[in-house]
Amino acid sequence: MTDSEATGGGRNKPWGGRFSQDQTPLFERVNASLPYDHVLAPYDLRGSRAHVRMLGSVGVLSADEVATLVDGLDRVEQELTEGSLEWDIRDEDVHMALEKRLVALVGPLGGKVHTGRSRNDQVALDVQLYLRDAVLGHLERIVSFLEVLLRVAERNETVVIPGYTHLQRAQPVLLAHHLLAYVAMLERDAGRFIRWRESSWMPLGAGALAGVNYPLDRELVARELGFERVALNAMDAVASRDAAFEYLAACTMCALHLSRLAEELVLWTSQEFGIATLPDEWTSGSSIMPQKKNPDAAELVRGKAAGFLGRLVSLGALIKGLPLAYNKDLQEDKLYLFATRDELDLCLEAAAAMVDVIEVDDERGRAAAEGGFAQATDVADYLVARGLPFRDAHHVAGRLVGVALASGRALSEVSLDELVELSPLFGPDYYEVVDLDRVIAAKISPGGTSPERVREQLVLASETTVGLRRLVRRLREEDLG
Ligand code: ARG
Repeated sequence: MTDSEATGGGRNKPWGGRFSQDQTPLFERVNASLPYDHVLAPYDLRGSRAHVRMLGSVGVLSADEVATLVDGLDRVEQELTEGSLEWDIRDEDVHMALEKRLVALVGPLGGKVHTGRSRNDQVALDVQLYLRDAVLGHLERIVSFLEVLLRVAERNETVVIPGYTHLQRAQPVLLAHHLLAYVAMLERDAGRFIRWRESSWMPLGAGALAGVNYPLDRELVARELGFERVALNAMDAVASRDAAFEYLAACTMCALHLSRLAEELVLWTSQEFGIATLPDEWTSGSSIMPQKKNPDAAELVRGKAAGFLGRLVSLGALIKGLPLAYNKDLQEDKLYLFATRDELDLCLEAAAAMVDVIEVDDERGRAAAEGGFAQATDVADYLVARGLPFRDAHHVAGRLVGVALASGRALSEVSLDELVELSPLFGPDYYEVVDLDRVIAAKISPGGTSPERVREQLVLASETTVGLRRLVRRLREEDLG
């Protein structure tokens, strides 16, 4: 078999009318997106059905033609679901491959599916539908993760750990308070995805770039597919990738949040911190050091954030300087989008599953908070309450830390005599002030770590999560219906 026989060549392609030479197989390899864009197939078929019905309603296709085409598209979809549809790289991309299959099933009439349409607006629509679906999947996983975080926070509601700045022990906090910070981040991530969906637009009907010679009803297609608006300008509709960029930005932000949380898991489960452990099933061993138990999955959730950033920047670089309208460079956007969708779902699932099973060591957490003199700020406030200016109080508390440090004692173990030597303002009630639980209970400002404030945050976050779950369920039902 010669190469040209093997490939069929450009002359035989659906668009091959003007060509007298075959494509070289190497060109086909550079050019084809089918190896990856076949995942768009269900969205492509959905878009084609909406397009065909609309062509019927504006009188471009007859009712019989619409029925035959829709039936054919359904049959292609069935083959797709059964897995019997075969992909052939010579078909270039998913759009050509599906159209070819449709023609094979219903005959030459199948070619009418492409009336008043270009692959440029077709692929833009497919990607929008794909991303709307992807966003729903992310939202579902974010809500599940929120449920996990709230469950773990409630399960460990009295657990105290050191809160850190500069990775130095700073002030004691409730573990629940720390986890609620991630709840807040993920709620905002969910907000970004919801807003993304609300603002997404329907590009079909733009044709190649200039509009088409048919009186299309673009609003009808938009409504059938669940979009709230049409991308009106035909050039913009086919050439813009800002929605894709914003999708990647929303995913990247979420991945960065997960990366920070993953880093906490790595730290907490280290022997140095020892605040938490991961069960064996979430760790792996070393091929040389028998004692090792490594938090690889957490490290990978941390590491994968790099890929998200890379793909976001890559799409920006792809768009930059491209003249209007469609350019083949844009075909590459799918590589970034598809990888990002899959990676975010994986990271969300893995991070949630790990947090769900961490075993927290209450004693180690308390000891770490105690050992780090994390009550020193409260000692300063105690002296301020007795009239000392904060700057001086800060100094005295610092000297007290020095005394405790030099003798290897906790703040609660320094005697009253020693205290009075540092400042006559100290009294026996000092010992209540350095009691970890009291230090925490004193953080009564809204959003603070006192148990009541944390409880408030937990209740509020639970309500938000229930609301989000309801919203996501409704969006899913709308998409299916
Ligand atoms: N596979 C192409 C892509 O993903 C479809 C659009 C092709 N358009 C064109 N003018 N060749 O971008």
